[in-house]
Amino acid sequence: ASRRFFVGGNWKMNGTKESVEELVSVLNAASLHDETDVVCAPPSIYLHFARSILDPKISVAAQNCYKTAKGAFTGEISPAMIRDCGADWVILGHSERRHVFGEGDELTGQKVAHALDSGLGVIACVGETLEEREAGTTEEVVYAQTQFIADNVKDWDKVVLAYEPVWAIGTGKTASPEQAQEVHQNLRGWFRANVSDDVADAVRIIYGGSVTAANCRELASQDDVDGFLVGGASLKPEFVDIVNARA
Ligand code: G3H
Repeated sequence: ASRRFFVGGNWKMNGTKESVEELVSVLNAASLHDETDVVCAPPSIYLHFARSILDPKISVAAQNCYKTAKGAFTGEISPAMIRDCGADWVILGHSERRHVFGEGDELTGQKVAHALDSGLGVIACVGETLEEREAGTTEEVVYAQTQFIADNVKDWDKVVLAYEPVWAIGTGKTASPEQAQEVHQNLRGWFRANVSDDVADAVRIIYGGSVTAANCRELASQDDVDGFLVGGASLKPEFVDIVNARA
């Protein structure tokens, strides 16, 4: 595919200043494919620190943000603050925000709109639960989630869609290359039918859910898999192999 490969490392709620330094020194020293966009998403409290020590060729993302610039929203962070810390991206609608913290499609959409307005790139996440997959509603679920995102996007250049089946996140049960390709292809078809041919051709659709150095190459070889959003393995040196997964 002609789309630029995109690999994000979602560190989730892990790390210490010391482990951030160790991981950053591994990444800074690694030879990362030039043709791949690499983004690390540390916990918000380490955003500024990670940005200050990471090689500029690696971008930084926040893992979440609120839908307004400032105000009385105890515990939240804004896109303006994320940018002020030198980061360029934010992950929104992650499965853990949806399922652990009860954030719905409407709030996720509002966050997408505000983050894009504030100049951040957005990694927007969708994905079905095991129950939904077994009920045969995977497409219906991911299309509905994508619609809420699309309703809030004017410029798709700043958006990457992450397909993360909930049953594959942190479970070691990776989607098979065929399962990932099927949903990615269908999502691209959704863009063709509901947004435009140009967006369908250009938008990066990345896969997340138990991606490892061992399974990344076969996944990366699928036509509609344009990269990864990596959790657990992004905390380890094997993240370098995942960044370099595309032959
Ligand atoms: O954002 C990353 C995903 O939730 C995947 O996490 O690679 O630990 O399964 P995982």
